[in-house]
Amino acid sequence: MTKHVLPEKHSDTFRSEIVEGLKAWQKKISSKWLYDDVGSHLFEAITELDAYYPTRTELGLLAKNARKYSRLPGARGAMVELGSGSSRKTNLLLDAFPDLSVYMPIDISANHLKEAADRVRRAHPALAVIPVSADFTQPLKQLPLLPELPVLVFFPGSTIGNFERSEAIQLLKNIKAAMPEASMVVGVDRPKKEEVLLKAYDDPAGVTAAFNRNLMQRVNRELGANFELSTFAHRAVWNSEDSRIEMHLESLEDQEVTVSGETFSFMKGETIHTENSHKYSEEAFTEIANEGGWRILDHDQDKRKPFSVYTLQAI
Ligand code: AVJ
Repeated sequence: MTKHVLPEKHSDTFRSEIVEGLKAWQKKISSKWLYDDVGSHLFEAITELDAYYPTRTELGLLAKNARKYSRLPGARGAMVELGSGSSRKTNLLLDAFPDLSVYMPIDISANHLKEAADRVRRAHPALAVIPVSADFTQPLKQLPLLPELPVLVFFPGSTIGNFERSEAIQLLKNIKAAMPEASMVVGVDRPKKEEVLLKAYDDPAGVTAAFNRNLMQRVNRELGANFELSTFAHRAVWNSEDSRIEMHLESLEDQEVTVSGETFSFMKGETIHTENSHKYSEEAFTEIANEGGWRILDHDQDKRKPFSVYTLQAI
């Protein structure tokens, strides 16, 4: 494992977003802050769990359909990956796209990004690897100019499910604004039995709990906070009305926590909402895609576990 020494650049945004979120009536912290170095590695561990079906299912779909995706124009141009998540998924496509010239991963974690880029460079020496350290939930303003190349956006992992519906639509609009003629391969998890979902987001080995709880350690470390980890528990809840799994950190007692010089009180049972993971049916996702300015070219799905990989085209 690589040692990480580079400071992350987001500290000011991090501080103001955390403090802002803890002042809300329902305390909340955006799930994008789960992915510091420790969190990124814990997430990698989650993807190996039996209980966590999405990664395995999506990998199977990508393997099965990679040849088909290689006929998209962008597979001979530039592949832009949102989040530099799993090298296995990336490699699967890069191996199937021998004519690709540029690979551009965009990730909020500079360290994670660098690791991913180095890995790809080693495996594909002929490819121009251009990592971009950016928060892709913000409009993609200064994308290094993609030369006159067709673009394929790769957005795996059902990460789009982490956004509120309206944010997901805005994100799709932003992607289109930055890459007007692109196509996109996007992984989207679907609704399924509640017990399957709950097990995937509260696994018996406790890796997801560690992933969620690491957020408190990160805030302690980076903002000099004093979260007492033993007084908070990981909770995964299915919100059927909004068709999403929510992760929370639940305070097990009445207490006060100081973050960046400000004091926040928690009642016993009160939670910090740390993640939404929306599960979209084909109908629901088609609406979002269309409202975001994309049409669906193709829909690949698994027979056993409901999970979808869509091919989209900017309209
Ligand atoms: C990487 C955002 C797709 O929502 O399933 C895994 C993150 N959270 N276990 C997801 C996650 C809890 C994951 N995504």
